[in-house]
Amino acid sequence: MFIRNRKKALTTFALAATLVASANFPTLAEGAGTTVNWTREQASKIQQTADNTAPYFNGGEIEKMTPDYHVWDTWPLRNRDGSIAVINGYKIIFSLTAPSNILPGKRHDIAEIRYFYSKNGQDWELGGTVFPEGEALGSRQWAGSAMVDNGKVNFFYTATGRKGEEHLSYEQRLVKASADIEVSKKDGITFSNWSDHKVILEPEGKYYQTMEEGMQGDIAYAFRDPWFFEDPKTGEEYILFEGNSNGTPAERMCEPEHIGSEEFRANHEVPEVSKLHNGSIGIAKATNDDLTEFEIMPPLVEANCVNQELERPHIVTKGNKYYLFTDTHLNKFAPGVSGPDGLFGFVSDTLVGGYEPLNGDGLVISNPKENPYQAYSWMVMPNGTVVSFLNFFDLEGKTINDIGHQPHEWQFEHFGGTLAPSLKISINQDKTKIVKELEPGVFK
Ligand code: FRU
Repeated sequence: MFIRNRKKALTTFALAATLVASANFPTLAEGAGTTVNWTREQASKIQQTADNTAPYFNGGEIEKMTPDYHVWDTWPLRNRDGSIAVINGYKIIFSLTAPSNILPGKRHDIAEIRYFYSKNGQDWELGGTVFPEGEALGSRQWAGSAMVDNGKVNFFYTATGRKGEEHLSYEQRLVKASADIEVSKKDGITFSNWSDHKVILEPEGKYYQTMEEGMQGDIAYAFRDPWFFEDPKTGEEYILFEGNSNGTPAERMCEPEHIGSEEFRANHEVPEVSKLHNGSIGIAKATNDDLTEFEIMPPLVEANCVNQELERPHIVTKGNKYYLFTDTHLNKFAPGVSGPDGLFGFVSDTLVGGYEPLNGDGLVISNPKENPYQAYSWMVMPNGTVVSFLNFFDLEGKTINDIGHQPHEWQFEHFGGTLAPSLKISINQDKTKIVKELEPGVFK
């Protein structure tokens, strides 16, 4: 891993702090110069092995959690320390959902967050929509996280687009709302006494690209998936998120530190369009108890010239170490490097800085070659259980780009839209290994 030019970063940091503070954006915190790039050299080592390849899932045999909705990205209600919360004997999960008669590829355009609850952490009862009608920001809501403390739930989510917009936009803002949680025999689990929904983070155009910058020739844009984290070493609280490295494509280029060692660079070609791949894992530090104010910090990891989307970043701590996980797709790798749809991870002794790819190449879980899109959106629980959703399966050799051209019935038949079999991984120092397949939707 390469640490960026510290002096340059500090100057940028100071300048950015001035600009940002005067523009009424969140102020920048310490840590400039600590971002590490997942290099092309490291990514070129990606290999599917017995330790990182999930078993084949027979998608056709997995029963949907609810016949009425497609269910995809899912997260549990957690305690402040990251452990899974149990409220009066119930575990609660939150999922992106859309009516199951919507074509699977269209679901992102109308995503809504619903909740489910369960006594055994495996059989999930649908509770309903989380937010009171019309209160959530955005024309749709994308992934987030939820933390409960003393009966008050803090919801973090992505507000995508604007409510009532005529044309679907891809603006993404990170939002927080809170509510009391109640459990009753009559109504099951309900949320009441809602706060306002408050935008807590938007890209500032220094470390994180704004949509306007991204629209000047980039492939896609991301500023989403807020994930709450309390650092057990310091008690400080953070939001991690998926972003893109700052700048327009005209301002960016592939630098040696994005590519790798001198030896590797001597024999490695970097196609020009690789610079359009600028996925990043962002972080911001909470500055008030309400978790409504944050200082934006330089990214933990960037994948400049390597990968376009580092989705749903989250951390598991073990021993003295921070394990940083993220999801990406095979079609998000830059030309000249390749990897499967999978869960990738990095390890460091400090929350900020020093991240090295787990297992040398970063690959933790991949779909099996014969079913390359069977699951997605993996999330690692503190005990090593990994949850994900059943995505497109048994595609008979078709790629993800072919799906939209198939008859509608075929698209519905080959999409899961429910939680996939969970997996258990072991984590030892800088190595991980899939050790077990569990039942679908297991959060334990
Ligand atoms: C990953 C993802 C998330 C986003 C959601 C939108 O599956 O791309 O990053 O919040 O899907 O549906």
